[in-house]
Amino acid sequence: MLKKVFLCVAIIFYFASSSIAAELSPIKLLPPDMKGGKSLMQSLQERKTSRSFSTKKLPIEVLSSLMWAACGINRPDSGKRTAPSALNWQEIDVYVAMEEGLYLYNAKAHVLEPVLKSDLRKNTTVFLQPSRSSVANAPLQLIYVVDYSKMSFVTNDEDKKVYSSADTGFIAQNVYLYCASEGLATVIRGMVDRDTLSKDMKLRDKQKIILVQAVGYPQ
Ligand SMILES: Cc1cc2nc3c(=O)[nH]c(=O)nc-3n(C[C@H](O)[C@H](O)[C@H](O)COP(=O)(O)O)c2cc1C
Repeated sequence: MLKKVFLCVAIIFYFASSSIAAELSPIKLLPPDMKGGKSLMQSLQERKTSRSFSTKKLPIEVLSSLMWAACGINRPDSGKRTAPSALNWQEIDVYVAMEEGLYLYNAKAHVLEPVLKSDLRKNTTVFLQPSRSSVANAPLQLIYVVDYSKMSFVTNDEDKKVYSSADTGFIAQNVYLYCASEGLATVIRGMVDRDTLSKDMKLRDKQKIILVQAVGYPQ
């Protein structure tokens, strides 16, 4: 009897979880627009933090170029990226929280892979001061997560933090420059409730949230 109950519960759980995953499809990104945008010097001139966002969504063309600029593959022969990474570990995963759900950027396939069908953007903004609340309007919150299991040879926690923080900074600055180049608003944030957000994202033990970056149109 107990066996039958256990089997029923397992079957229900299997179908429930597979139907959730089935509802959220991968987002196949377009090749980046290599000709658009302002010059590097102009983008540096205009790079800034903005905390005033409209709710307008990013078109797929913009989302595609943004993700490639962040840490897409710019040398297909080696698989190396637009952002450097210590020992080429590529240990920073970029999760993308949008209204429709949480995705993970797969740079090799240039695809956003579905992770969870829930809007976690609000879970990234619980520590925001009320004066900065329009950051919660942003259509996109990029969540930078280090995967310590990819950092071979480093056993010292301090070194892991230094390298992974630096590697996150390079990606975040690429996003800042892309946003400046396209007239988008962005803010990188360290004030994040990492413990709760990690649980919401169902991260593994070796994954740690470093920073979160909102991207959208200025209000
Ligand atoms: C590592 C890091 C963490 C930050 N954390 C926050 C944050 O939690 N909330 C926020 O509103 N801004 C945050 N910022 C944005 C800074 O306040 C902003 O970069 C600074 O005021 C300089 O402005 P600028 O980017 O326009 O030059 C952070 C910036 C960095 C580099």
